[in-house]
Amino acid sequence: MSGGEDAKTHKLWGGRFSEGPHPALDAVNRSIGVDFRLWPHDIRLSKAWALALGEAGVLSADDVSRVRSGLDRVAARFAAGAPPSATDEDIHTMIDRLLHEEAGEPASRLHTGRSRNDQVATATRLWTIDAIGRIEALLRDLQRAMVTQAELLEHDLVPAYTHLQRAQPVSAAHWMLAHFWPLERDLVRLANARRSAAVMPLGSGAIAGSAFPVPRALLQRELGFDSVSPNSIDAVGDRDFIAELLFALALTGTHLSRLAEDLILFGSSEFGFVRYGDGFSTGSSMMPQKRNPDALELARGSGSRVLGDLVALLSTIKGLPSGYNKDLQEDKRTLFDAIDSLELLLPAVAGSVATLTFNRTRMRAAVSSTMMATDLADYLVRKRATFRDAHGAVGRLVREAEEKGLELTELPWGSFAAAHPLFEQDVLKELDPAHTVSHREIEGGTGPSAVKAQLTRARGILGG
Ligand code: ARG
Repeated sequence: MSGGEDAKTHKLWGGRFSEGPHPALDAVNRSIGVDFRLWPHDIRLSKAWALALGEAGVLSADDVSRVRSGLDRVAARFAAGAPPSATDEDIHTMIDRLLHEEAGEPASRLHTGRSRNDQVATATRLWTIDAIGRIEALLRDLQRAMVTQAELLEHDLVPAYTHLQRAQPVSAAHWMLAHFWPLERDLVRLANARRSAAVMPLGSGAIAGSAFPVPRALLQRELGFDSVSPNSIDAVGDRDFIAELLFALALTGTHLSRLAEDLILFGSSEFGFVRYGDGFSTGSSMMPQKRNPDALELARGSGSRVLGDLVALLSTIKGLPSGYNKDLQEDKRTLFDAIDSLELLLPAVAGSVATLTFNRTRMRAAVSSTMMATDLADYLVRKRATFRDAHGAVGRLVREAEEKGLELTELPWGSFAAAHPLFEQDVLKELDPAHTVSHREIEGGTGPSAVKAQLTRARGILGG
């Protein structure tokens, strides 16, 4: 490709080739469809790079200001909707082309001492740090919706399930908050991912470090990074920060999916514990009676996409030799897809939760007397029976009730007396679910004071 053609197509490379790239190569190589959204960050880092080149004596003070104001005008063109041209290979190329239009000759000096390898790694980290902030805010919104619902459910009882079989009664707030704390852990993971992203690769060049004395500390300050990368080879090939973020997001997707699954079950006619708000229910084209929880089902479904993004990235990185390899261009597809998915899902899940109405009567009615079987055994243990002995005695009572088609509360007193000599009349209060719950004041348990403390703690995390 001749120098003239280079200028026309504005490639950042090509001088060493006698003919231009085959269209099939161009097509596969072109990443602007994916990386276009990096433009604000690439412009920001380019402005900082111009300053640093000024400090290094590569750009005159006049060039620095022409390049920086040119980049501001390029940003304005992006903001006004400037589209890529057919020859823009990636966002870095497009910005370079527009900067030449805006700033002329000094634009040709900006790429001194840097490479798209350290550039893309830096821009992607800046984008990632921003995106983490957006996801955190959305997670907080969802947590807020959960705590608001939990406060309304504090004194309502619902079965807690193990193996999806009725296990023990709990405060419905306790159930709701069981979905709050996993998101709190996700937020810790996101904060860690942000720390990993906040290491600056700029200055690493293509692989060996820039040959010009650019002040990295100045770049770090300008761009708000926590530190600079300690090894240029590592810096241009390191995508751990994306893998860490994708893991955190895959787990968030998993948590949303589990919440969704609970709510989908609870909204079925068989459970009938919740009704979805009109704004978050969909109908059926055929069956007029339907009220479907599509947002929740999509939350359950999208969890797998985000997990797929994590696996795709890890398998991309795993076989790579050190330094930058073009395979890494795929990193942004996975990163953007996962963030986009969650930015769509989180508001829909938060809205679904905020607009739920709970059917307290159905919830309470589902708390059947055999769910207090453990309390009967604990009663005997308090009277010095061994737990094993007590478990056997209560098991026999439960079998008898089952055989007679009765609730434990409907069994004659004689059955209790026959099941274990330590049973006395006062055992019957153990069959009251409110009584059962009141025994569980242990920290983290479902007792009324423990739940109140948990609610206060959750509210406190959200800032009241
Ligand atoms: N579009 C590329 C990417 O996303 C930019 C870096 C290209 N570097 C190179 N030497 N070809 O990874």
